[in-house]
Amino acid sequence: MKGNTLVNTNQLSERLSTLSRDQFYDVYKRFDWPTELAHDSFAMSPEITTLYGTNVWSSLNDEQKRKLTICETATLFSNTLNGEKLLVAGLSKQLYSGARATPEITEYLHHFIDEENKHMIMFGIFCNKYVGRIYPDKKFATAKDYAPGEELLSFYALAMVVEAYGDYYNVQVMKDDRCDPLVRDISRVHHLDEARHLSFDRAYLRELAAEYLPTWDEPTLTNFQQWLAGFMRVNWVTFYNPAAYRDAGIPEPYEVQKIALASPTQAALREKISAGVVKFFQKIGLLNAKPDL
Ligand SMILES: [Fe+2]
Ligand SMILES: [Fe+2]
Repeated sequence: MKGNTLVNTNQLSERLSTLSRDQFYDVYKRFDWPTELAHDSFAMSPEITTLYGTNVWSSLNDEQKRKLTICETATLFSNTLNGEKLLVAGLSKQLYSGARATPEITEYLHHFIDEENKHMIMFGIFCNKYVGRIYPDKKFATAKDYAPGEELLSFYALAMVVEAYGDYYNVQVMKDDRCDPLVRDISRVHHLDEARHLSFDRAYLRELAAEYLPTWDEPTLTNFQQWLAGFMRVNWVTFYNPAAYRDAGIPEPYEVQKIALASPTQAALREKISAGVVKFFQKIGLLNAKPDL
């Protein structure tokens, strides 16, 4: 089992490296950056904003709704950029690090790092140019003493949560002709790279879980599962960003955050977007139940 899955991740890494080289792009030449975003477009599909389905949303006029979609796009792009900073640091540490990083995996990690670096550049330009800032990082507690394999498992589980949630938004926006052409293009570019990252995360996590989880004692496994469920919940809260509500001109942003988090429409959206990752984590043993999102 262990041997087979290792071969699979290596083989997949070779295929992914070939695809990354075929689809290589210069992030500085890939986009034109207009002075302003299109005035007659949303930046994000209204149905996936954090206020959709709440009475706050129905109280906004068309221009406020459009402004909110720009600030929520900046929230998504800032959160992704902040996650990518950690991702690049962790991926760099894994390069040429001995037995785990086979030559095939190491080669793919170079592409992974290159692509995440380009994403940070494009998201950084977008946020600075159209919202005037990058929304700051939220600090998450990570485990201190790791059981064997736990550091890698938690690293790729976090990566997968951030990448899979972000990818849902990218795919919705790139398909939605009500949305601004530049945002749709950035979403498309990100989605193409992320599809490869997510297939790597899945293969590697499956392999690591099969190898290490059977060696952990019960409390270690339970702690890990509780920590992961907690991260998935806290990560969702970062989408409901009071600073973005304020930048969109919405009063009482902290009150609005509470209303939005409590909305049944929003709870259903969070569950829908998380469903694939939850199912996968349950299947490979990283979660033992559906987390409260
Ligand atoms: Fe990315
Ligand atoms: Fe990625």
